[in-house]
Amino acid sequence: MKNPYHPIPMIVKKASVETTDRMLRTLQLSFLNEEDAKAFRFIPGQFCELSIFGKGEAPLGIASSPTENGSLKFTINKAGVVTTALHHIEEGTEVGMRGPLGNGYPIDIFQGKNVLVIGGGFAFTTLRSLIAFFLHPENRNKVKDITVIYGARMPGLLLYKEELKEWEKRSDIKLVVTVDWGDKDWKGKVGLVPNVLEELAPSSENTYAVICGPPIMIKFTFPKLMALQFPDERIYTSLERRMKCGIGKCGRCNIGHIYVCNDGPVFNYAQLKKLPKDY
Ligand SMILES: Cc1cc2nc3c(=O)[nH]c(=O)nc-3n(C[C@H](O)[C@H](O)[C@H](O)COP(=O)(O)OP(=O)(O)OC[C@H]3O[C@@H](n4cnc5c(N)ncnc54)[C@H](O)[C@@H]3O)c2cc1C
Ligand code: FES
Repeated sequence: MKNPYHPIPMIVKKASVETTDRMLRTLQLSFLNEEDAKAFRFIPGQFCELSIFGKGEAPLGIASSPTENGSLKFTINKAGVVTTALHHIEEGTEVGMRGPLGNGYPIDIFQGKNVLVIGGGFAFTTLRSLIAFFLHPENRNKVKDITVIYGARMPGLLLYKEELKEWEKRSDIKLVVTVDWGDKDWKGKVGLVPNVLEELAPSSENTYAVICGPPIMIKFTFPKLMALQFPDERIYTSLERRMKCGIGKCGRCNIGHIYVCNDGPVFNYAQLKKLPKDY
């Protein structure tokens, strides 16, 4: 049996800065060994522990889609020791990766339904994976309407800007990108994500909502979804906790009896309501 603590060797194939404040960097990693690449299967919403020798490990959501074979993409906010090291790492350097970890989004449950994706800030990473997965020609007919509301504080802080432009041109996805404050070049929407949701008022009929973003955005978006009559079971989110092992062994990430790393990080609102209030 494979040791779950043993990282898979990966190489930094491409590194790019995403945002004007230079706090978010995307790394595209490729597998060092062909057999690791072949064996690696994941679903959108899962995460990996990325490690740099001598620095440590950090859990990071997979930003690429399973339909994008051969490499994995992570978008990293510079927060502390490991993430800063990942910001300085050069193309061609080896890093370690344990994963895929966690449950991921319930893509089977979404089949045949409309999907409403609501994202804010850099939590858009795994939502990007989910959207790219369903937009792939092999998967597009698995769900009906795809509606995306994605917001950032200002235009320069939006992730995946080129891809957003491509999605905007497509007729099989409704994308609304919004910023809290525009600038002289911004022609798009200005407004907070919860207000844009209220204005757009998507139907909750036959629809699942997936929401990831800063706690303040989630706090004000939930009541808007309630007002649109989304049942708790049809609202999904991904929790972020301090983690260590990522495989349900160390107890670092628990909330009551659940381990966020193993039972989550994706939960629906009905499940979250049953948890102790410390999350
Ligand atoms: C399932 C999951 C998915 C994640 N996906 C992403 C992602 O796609 N992109 C991304 O940039 N980040 C993501 N994170 C957050 C990321 O794991 C932390 O920012 C990272 O572990 C910090 O490590 P560090 O060594 O750089 O910071 P440290 O030096 O360990 O800490 C620096 C500061 O960050 C705080 N911190 C550390 N970990 C967390 C955490 N999990 N939540 C809140 N505060 C924390 C510490 O308290 C400290 O104040 C994710 C976390 C989880 C649990
Ligand atoms: S991180 Fe160790 S149990 Fe979840």
